[in-house]
Amino acid sequence: MTVLARPRVRTFDLVVVANRLPVDRVVDPDGTEQWRTSPGGLVTAMESVMPGRDGAWVGWAGEAGEAPEPFVENDMYLQPVALSAEEVEQYYEGFSNETLWPIYHDVIVSATFHRFWWNAYRAVNQRFAEAAARVAAPGATVWVHDYQLQLVPAMLRELRPDVRIGWFNHIPFPPVELFAQLPWRQSLVEGLLGADFLGFQRTADAENFLRACRRLVGLPTKGDTVTHHPHGDDGEAHTVRASAIPISIDFNGLDELARTPEVKARAAEIRSSLGDPEILMLGVDRLDYTKGIRHRLKAYEELLRDGEVAPPETALLQVATPSRERVAAYRNLRTQVEGTVGRINGEHSPIGAQAVQYLHHSYPRSEMAALFLAADVMLVTPLRDGMNLVAKEYVSCRHDLGGALVLSEFTGAARELHQAFVCNPHDIEGLKQTIMRAVRAPEADRRRRMRALRKRVADHDVQRWAQRYLEALASAPERPERQGRHGKSA
Ligand code: ADP
Ligand code: G6P
Repeated sequence: MTVLARPRVRTFDLVVVANRLPVDRVVDPDGTEQWRTSPGGLVTAMESVMPGRDGAWVGWAGEAGEAPEPFVENDMYLQPVALSAEEVEQYYEGFSNETLWPIYHDVIVSATFHRFWWNAYRAVNQRFAEAAARVAAPGATVWVHDYQLQLVPAMLRELRPDVRIGWFNHIPFPPVELFAQLPWRQSLVEGLLGADFLGFQRTADAENFLRACRRLVGLPTKGDTVTHHPHGDDGEAHTVRASAIPISIDFNGLDELARTPEVKARAAEIRSSLGDPEILMLGVDRLDYTKGIRHRLKAYEELLRDGEVAPPETALLQVATPSRERVAAYRNLRTQVEGTVGRINGEHSPIGAQAVQYLHHSYPRSEMAALFLAADVMLVTPLRDGMNLVAKEYVSCRHDLGGALVLSEFTGAARELHQAFVCNPHDIEGLKQTIMRAVRAPEADRRRRMRALRKRVADHDVQRWAQRYLEALASAPERPERQGRHGKSA
C-alpha cells in the first residue's frame, strides 16, 4: 500500500470561524456560478476588519453538498466547510434557527427541540473545529463567531491546546429562565468555556451567561469571570472572562461612500421615483420575526387610518432581505408581511402612488447608502436584536445631518444611540407617537441629535471593536491546557 503524503495546508496566525463564509456560492438555473455577499450583520462587520490581516476564514459556502476548494477573496483565505442537505436541515435550519434563535430572542416564536438536531449540531461543530485546527498556525488566534458554533471552542481546545480561542456572540444571550429550557444547556456552557475570552453585545448578555454558569452548572463567578476545571474536579482551575464589547460598522467607509456624487444623485433619484414625498420613511431588515416589521406596519397603517400621514406626501419604503426561507416561521412572516402591505396599499394608495413600497431583494452597498441618504425617518423597530447595524449605518450615511432615527429600546444599538427617537415596538400607540415626533421634530433638534449619533458611531467604529476584542483575547490568562506544546493534529 502506498501512503500518500498529506498535501501541505496553508496556516494562518488569525483564523475566523463563522457558520457562513463572507460570500455565498450561488448556481443559476443555467449552471453559471456566482459568489454573492452573504446576508447579515456578522459578515458586514467582519468583512470590514479582516482585509489586511493576512487571515483565514472558515465557514459554509451556503449550499448543501461538497465544499468548494479553498480560495482567496478580498485579501482573505476562505476555507469552505461542507454541509450535507440533511445537516442544513438539522444543524442550520433546525437546531441553530428553530431551537437556539427563538430561545436567544425572547421566544418571540416558540422553540422546537429535537435530539437528532442536537446530534447534527454537535457533529457539524466538530467539523468546524477540525477545519479551524488545520488552518491555524502554531499559537494562532482563532476567533469563533455566534450561536451556531458554541461547541467549537472546547472542541478546538481539545485538538489544539496551543491556540488562543475567542468567541463573540452577535445575538443576545438569553435570561437564565429561557436558557434553562434547553436540554443541552450544560454542554453549551462547557463548549463555550473552552474559549479564552467570551465577548457579548451588551453587559446584560454577559451577565445572563454568567448567571447560567452559576445557576445551571454550579460554577463560581466573580465580577465578569467564571471559574471552572477543564480537566475535571481534580485538575487545575481556570478563569474565563465574559464581557461586553459591542460591535459596530465601518463609519469612515460608509461616510465616504455616502458623500460620493453617484450616491447623492441616486438618493435624489430614489426620492423622485417615489414622487418626491415630503416624508420618506424607510425600513431595512432581513425578513425576520425579531425585526418588528409587523409592528411597524401596524403603526403605519393606523397613522394612515387616523389621517396623521397620507400618500403621496408620505411614503414608506420597506426593504426586506430574503432570509431562512425554508423555516416555517420565516415563511409565515413573509406571507403576513406581504398580505399586510397589499392591504395597506389597497386601502390607502391613491392612483399613481403607493403608501408602502416593498422590496424583497438584496442590494449593493452603494444602493443601501443611497437609500439611507434618501430617507427622512429610519424605522428600526426590532422586538429583540443583539445590536442592529442598520441603525449605525443610517447615521453614518447622514453627513448632511438630515434624517431622524426611530430606534427600538430592545436593540443593542439603543444602549449607545441615546439621541435616537427611542420606542417600545410592542406599544403601538407609543410607537405611533414616536414616529410622529420624529416626523415633526424641528430641524435644529434633528440636526443636534444626528450630530451626536454620528460622533458616537465615528468614535466607536468596527476597527475599534476588533482591536478591543483582540486585545481582550490576547490578555486572557494562560490556560492550563497550553503547556508550551502543540496539540494533536486534526
Ligand atoms: P442582522 O445581522 O440580524 O441581519 P443587522 O442590522 O445587524 O441585522 O445587519 C444587517 C446587515 O445587512 C446590514 O449591514 C445591512 O445593511 C445589510 N442589509 C440588510 N438588508 C439588506 C439588503 N436588502 N441588501 C443588502 N444589504 C442588506
Ligand atoms: C445574524 C446572525 C448571523 C447570520 C445572519 C444571517 O446576523 O447573527 O450569524 O449569519 O443573521 O443569517 P443566515 O441564517 O442567513 O446566516
